Amino acid sequence: MNMMCNHMGQGAPGFTPMALKMHSEADKIVIAAEKKDFNAVVLATERTLQSCTACHANYKQQIVSEEVWNKMINKK
Ligand code: HEC
Repeated sequence: MNMMCNHMGQGAPGFTPMALKMHSEADKIVIAAEKKDFNAVVLATERTLQSCTACHANYKQQIVSEEVWNKMINKK
């Protein structure tokens, strides 16, 4: 999952940390659910959704050719 987020965030500085934050917040929903801690599930869900909207507010996907992509990530 880290590799996938790193790959997708290569052309967009700051994207990968936001993506990883969303995943780690989502993992906390599972941990809270396993403990049957209702309040912690709600809190972790709220934080996960905040990390979704925080990223959507900052990034828009651009569909590009492989050639353009390689330029964006400074690959020859
Ligand atoms: C690290 C950034 C990031 C995070 C975190 C993120 N997204 Fe996204 N999401 C995107 C980008 C970029 C697109 C591409 C659409 C665009 O350009 O607006 C997208 C698209 C979507 C779409 C499709 C929208 C459409 O118009 O086709 C949905 C639905 C969506 N995200 C839901 C979520 C949900 C739910 C979460 C949290 C659990 C989440 N996303 C977290 C970056 C992110």
